[in-house]
Amino acid sequence: MRIHTYEKLWLVAALVLIVGFIATITYGSVGLGISMIDDSEETLSPDEINDDERFGEPRVEQVGENEYEAYVVAQTFIFQPDPIEVPANSRVTFYVTSRDVIHGFAVVGTNTNTMVIPGEVSTLTVEFDEPDEYGIVCNEYCGDFHHTMEGQLTVVPEAEFDMTELEAEADDEVELGDETTVTATVENGALNDLETTATFEIGDQTVEEDVTVAGQDTEELAFTVDSTELGEGDHDWTVTVDDHEESGTLTVVEDLEGEDETGADTDGANGTDEDAEAGDTDA
Ligand code: CUA
Repeated sequence: MRIHTYEKLWLVAALVLIVGFIATITYGSVGLGISMIDDSEETLSPDEINDDERFGEPRVEQVGENEYEAYVVAQTFIFQPDPIEVPANSRVTFYVTSRDVIHGFAVVGTNTNTMVIPGEVSTLTVEFDEPDEYGIVCNEYCGDFHHTMEGQLTVVPEAEFDMTELEAEADDEVELGDETTVTATVENGALNDLETTATFEIGDQTVEEDVTVAGQDTEELAFTVDSTELGEGDHDWTVTVDDHEESGTLTVVEDLEGEDETGADTDGANGTDEDAEAGDTDA
């Protein structure tokens, strides 16, 4: 059978087109890593978010040398945490869930984009090479203030990324002659040990203490304060660990017991000597 040259050409062209279409569709659905959120994903009921180990406290966690996991909660009309901070040269898996209605989670200027459905957890893995700042927007209409729903994603230089947290606790008052303790808790969210120095300052006293906090662990430090050395009055104190600082004021009073007896409810009503003295600091 003889086929006309033009007919052959059209046959070949049609075949090329068909193969091209199939290749495009395959690439679009597999090659770009686009996937749908479906029932096979993990589920999490919105009422369980607060008690959930990961989403109860939305945060970024280190899971490997350069690997991090970010647990993000979307709700009308915010993202938590905000900003989300990750280091450069890292691979971050975002787990995003919604507390109320359907939201979106899109990192502006990238192809990181997902729908966030209450009850479902959307998962996205992104690599960040360079320090940068990105906006996060919600791209699913979620209510009156949908257009204001935005967040921030900050990729900080690797050396500046900090997973240390500091908290300090102390009494407000101590009786002259007694000792009191300022407690500092250093939390190390990173996988590697944290070796640093904690500095405690009150009045003209300075105490330095070396501290090593194991990976993803906390250490408690106690600084003892001798009220006799300070003398009566207000004394500001600070605890410093690297770039973190906590501070407060300790009041040394002559007679703590007298304060307790009069209590807060009688304050000012029948001003005793103690009340009058402490009046300035009570407010
Ligand atoms: Cu959330 Cu729109």
